[in-house]
Amino acid sequence: MAELGFEVLGLDVDQSKIDMLERGELPIHEPGLEDLLRRNLESGRLRFTTSYEEAAAFGDVHFICVGTPQKKGEYAADVSYLDAVVESLAPYLDRECLVVGKSTVPVGTAERLAEKLVRLSPAGTQAELAWNPEFLREGFAVKDTLHPDRIVLGVTSERAEKVLRDVYAPLGEVPVVVTDFPTAELVKSAANAFLATKISFINAMAEVCEVAHADVKQLSLALSFDDRIGGRFLNPGLGFGGGCLPKDIRAFMARAGELGADQALTFLREVDAINMRRRARMVDLARGLVGGSFENCTVGVLGAAFKPNSDDIRDSPALDVAVTIGQEGGTVTIYDPVALDNARRAHPDLGYADSALDAARGADVMLLLTEWQEFVDLDPEKLGAVVATRNIVDGRNALDAETWRSAGWHYRALGRP
Ligand code: UGA
Repeated sequence: MAELGFEVLGLDVDQSKIDMLERGELPIHEPGLEDLLRRNLESGRLRFTTSYEEAAAFGDVHFICVGTPQKKGEYAADVSYLDAVVESLAPYLDRECLVVGKSTVPVGTAERLAEKLVRLSPAGTQAELAWNPEFLREGFAVKDTLHPDRIVLGVTSERAEKVLRDVYAPLGEVPVVVTDFPTAELVKSAANAFLATKISFINAMAEVCEVAHADVKQLSLALSFDDRIGGRFLNPGLGFGGGCLPKDIRAFMARAGELGADQALTFLREVDAINMRRRARMVDLARGLVGGSFENCTVGVLGAAFKPNSDDIRDSPALDVAVTIGQEGGTVTIYDPVALDNARRAHPDLGYADSALDAARGADVMLLLTEWQEFVDLDPEKLGAVVATRNIVDGRNALDAETWRSAGWHYRALGRP
């Protein structure tokens, strides 16, 4: 927003994050974002605070961008951070303003928060809510924000629509869908459910390919030439993880159930199950390569983040596999270009290395679990020189099988002979 020319005040309740941001440092790894942060700090258009009072006095438009994680032991989403924002901000809102929700929420949340906002703010109905779901991907956050595929505006007044159209005008020609609260909320749940389904579809095909001795990578390529299907999100492998797709499809099922439409989304249970089975299959393939048991076995793991170009390890398929192998008695050493610190904090019991080569030393089997470019570019000869046995399982179908096989590696992949 600062880059687009607006005066921006960012608020977080975590003082240490605010301190970092004020120094021009990011609390997360996101390509291109640090440049943007520094440039806009220098221009003076971007500042930070922990004070809701200051934020309320400052803003004409307030974006709420907090997380809605999965509740412990349940499928439903925890929306308490959203309520906390509205309860903290509203009492200071004493003039006309727009509060805009960006979080992924169970349908019906916006209407409930809109009522709460009006009830708690001195400005009353002059403090209005809008719902404007966010579609950015981690690793591409800057690009997706400055060049979105579409903008969805859930609004209940022309004033709210006008404010948001003005806010996004600097982005140029972007399709805008103006709709009501529940539709805007559902668009986001539907988009992530579709993406998760697409990934699990190709991974279900991988399961069939495995028993039919077919090649899912070639199958996916052949499907991709059909415009109606398309090749994006059709990469077979270890499946989806992260802070969004897994918990969003579960929260979507839970909410549909509450509303009496649980049958509509039972297929998402399968989508989830297929996804989790890929992790188990990965462990099976690795175990098979080392003779049926991980006891007394050294396993080199390439990747900890849930996907490349991110340091996010939330529901990371890579770490899930590493943890399982550790529990089965394997000695696991993990390397990841940026997610090592996060992984170490979450799983101090596992082993870590500062390079792919170090993770490979003495390994009985190597596992590629996150397709960082650095791993795709690895030299099979160099890696082969330090391992105990040239065994590799490519969990992301990212390596060239022939190259590795001709370097003497026993190469296995998910969904391919
Ligand atoms: C996802 C959506 O793509 C965004 O549009 C959405 O805004 C975001 O969730 C959100 O709800 O905030 P993100 O979680 O950053 O974005 O990551 P994705 O690029 O969707 O990847 C998710 C997982 O699917 C990763 O673990 C990735 O490795 C896996 N994946 C992706 C596959 O296994 N195969 C594919 O073909 C594509």
